[in-house]
Amino acid sequence: MDSYFIVGGKELEGEVEVDSAKNALLPIIAGCILVDGEIKLENVPKYSDVLAMCKIIEHLGGKTKFINGSYINQDLYLDCRNIVYSDVPNELACCVRSSIFTLGSILGRKKLAKVSYPGGCDIGLRPIDIHLAGIRQLGCKVVDKNGYIYADASKLKANDVMLSFPSVGATENIMMLAVFAEGETRIFNPAKEPEIVDLQNFLNSCGAMISGAGGNIIAIKGVKKLHGCEYKTISDRIEAGTFMIAGAMCGKQIVIKNADAQHNQELISKLLKTTCKLTCYDDKIIVEKADKLVSFGEVETAVYPGFPTDLQAPMSSLAAVSEGYSLIIENLFESRYKHIGELMKMGCDIRCKNGVCIIKGKDKIYGAEVVAPDLRGGAALVLAGLVAEGYTTINNIGLIDRGYYKIEDKLTRLGADIKRIECEKRMDNCN
Ligand code: EPZ
Repeated sequence: MDSYFIVGGKELEGEVEVDSAKNALLPIIAGCILVDGEIKLENVPKYSDVLAMCKIIEHLGGKTKFINGSYINQDLYLDCRNIVYSDVPNELACCVRSSIFTLGSILGRKKLAKVSYPGGCDIGLRPIDIHLAGIRQLGCKVVDKNGYIYADASKLKANDVMLSFPSVGATENIMMLAVFAEGETRIFNPAKEPEIVDLQNFLNSCGAMISGAGGNIIAIKGVKKLHGCEYKTISDRIEAGTFMIAGAMCGKQIVIKNADAQHNQELISKLLKTTCKLTCYDDKIIVEKADKLVSFGEVETAVYPGFPTDLQAPMSSLAAVSEGYSLIIENLFESRYKHIGELMKMGCDIRCKNGVCIIKGKDKIYGAEVVAPDLRGGAALVLAGLVAEGYTTINNIGLIDRGYYKIEDKLTRLGADIKRIECEKRMDNCN
């Protein structure tokens, strides 16, 4: 995989445009399997997770095509009218967590599905028991065998589904399966993330009848079919948050365009405690670094609207260079601290015990050769490299490509000194 080479110490200045939300696009691409018509998704960055989902659609018999659009990125056209298969093999499913989202949409469309266990960032066990319990509550027969899920929805029926935990993926899977279930399905204790609301809005643009997303009960009235549509997803609140943290750490002034402050309330309140300057407008957020960063205090991750687990790692880089002690507690994923060992190679003063990280801010951290352990841990290492003295090499950055599209170009335009080194051009035997 490729590497980043960063020379730290540059101040960032200028404008950056936030891309469409990865975690909205992935379930929406799975939802296209339900649609009897052509779909145009506008301004779609080629996140590697998006490309992996397109491969699954094509394996099933659907068509996907990127065509130049009027935005910075291309538009993605999908046509699932000729889907003939209902299986997702391990070699395709293992690349992304969102492969499991196709279980609900394949079942809704074909009434039968054989889907391999999903892949995704190695941040915990990430079971799918809540997905399967919900699908069973809608009358489906489900067999979990040899690493595959075999499901039969011939007796699909609308029902009340109670989630034992507000799982994002399980909520999305059940929403998609229920679209064609005759009668009204209600999901209790659903996830409330903005990406859930976006999935509801996309499916309704295709003729579904879903309401309540973002609240305590999601209601899905079954319909007979879905028609094509054109749709533009929400912007990526995690990318926006990553740039906000970069601004607090080393931004002379960064204008983050296409950012929805409503989706980052928790982060904003924490960043203001560091004494960085942060101003929110309707469609942009302006961040200027503090004269002297002070600790934001404590971050405890929670389901939305709590502090997002996907920004936990980037916040540890901020804490590492903020005066005072910071506390980070990750409550959603049991092994989402793999970046901490890499940050310690850069001189960060961090202790982790029983899921709690205590970070003592330092005036200076130092460049080192580090390895991206997962998507957001990789982003944390980029942020640390931007402020470290000397240079930092980050290996295994293919994991960062999963959820940040050409972030090196965006940072370069802001004045960072960051280069992508392709694997084959590196002297050592890169993996
Ligand atoms: C989605 O993952 C996101 N991925 C994750 O973003 C995000 O961190 C996560 O939601 C939480 O917000 C996509 O949307 C593609 P969950 P998902 O089901 O759906 C447990 C990123 O960096 N659980 O809400 O997998 C699970 O183990 C990625 O962009 C079960 O126990 O998250 C975890 O502890 C990483 N059984 C908790 O629930 C289940 O059946 C939250 O998981 C499902 C989940």
